[in-house]
Amino acid sequence: MKATAKANVNIALIKYWGKRDEELILPTNNSLSLTLDGLYTTTTVHFKSELTEDRFYLDGKQVTGVPYERVTQFLDIVRKEANEENLYAEVRSENHVPTAAGFASSASGFAALAAASTKAIGLELTEEELSRITRRGSGSACRSIYGGFAEWKMGEKEDGSDSYAVQIAPKNFWDIRIAAVILTDEKKSVSSRDGMKRTVETSPFFQGWVESSFTDLTRMKEGIENRDFAMCGEIAEANCLKMHATTLGANPPFTYWTDSTMKVMQEVRKMREEGIPAYFTIDAGPNVKVIYLPEHEEIIQKRLQAIPEVTNITLSKAGDGITYL
Ligand code: DP6
Repeated sequence: MKATAKANVNIALIKYWGKRDEELILPTNNSLSLTLDGLYTTTTVHFKSELTEDRFYLDGKQVTGVPYERVTQFLDIVRKEANEENLYAEVRSENHVPTAAGFASSASGFAALAAASTKAIGLELTEEELSRITRRGSGSACRSIYGGFAEWKMGEKEDGSDSYAVQIAPKNFWDIRIAAVILTDEKKSVSSRDGMKRTVETSPFFQGWVESSFTDLTRMKEGIENRDFAMCGEIAEANCLKMHATTLGANPPFTYWTDSTMKVMQEVRKMREEGIPAYFTIDAGPNVKVIYLPEHEEIIQKRLQAIPEVTNITLSKAGDGITYL
């Protein structure tokens, strides 16, 4: 009863921001992402009859507290699904998502945990079923089941049975790339979980965000289908700005941006004015992800590196979905 799985991180081009059900992790809009190559988590789950509780080790160190709770709560869901409610596991994860790359590892972490634990306990799931159960660990993780472009369909049902991700296009459909731009003045930010909750509950801009995200999604899918880079870039950037605008209307208000974040945004806009196609997107933190095409990699990397506040840049291509090792 042992299995190992590897999952990559993903970056949303149309953001998931807001839940309609916090327990089941059901979103208020569909989101769309690109799974990235080379930034991943590998997890081995070993169910053992002699264990009386789960154990979780991250990069060799035993984990306790809230991160441990999130893992065991997720395993409870897997146990229930498999009718094995008294079977506990040893979980060993290795994170190959350097903190310095500025990605939250929850997407790759929960996708790898879901794949390894469901396989180890003997569940035979389709990718959609795996995505649906992964969603319960962390919403954005349900998109990391797939390589390339994935869409998380919010679904309508109260029990969440129709809320899971599907693949829109495989990784070799279109070689678009993402530069993760890491900044010096990283502040401790509001977690995405808390940030979206506060926004849903208090921001008068939240409804506008939800409504416009549906139009953005339809147009983004059209842009991907036609491999229209300018169209996809413009929509991704605008969608990200609308998501971040909701936080300014929240009570108490907050923002994930710092002045360095804005410097990178300005540089991306400046490159565009000069005819270099590049667009940005930002998640629940100050770092910026820049979307570009391979032929502009060198110049974009150079321009971003020249910004004094930039400490590190990670360049990624599109990556694969879940693999079992
Ligand atoms: C801004 O998936 O981390 O990155 O479901 O509460 O675990 P929970 O939230 P999480 O939120 C990700 C938010 C985002 C946008 C996105 O990835 O779509």
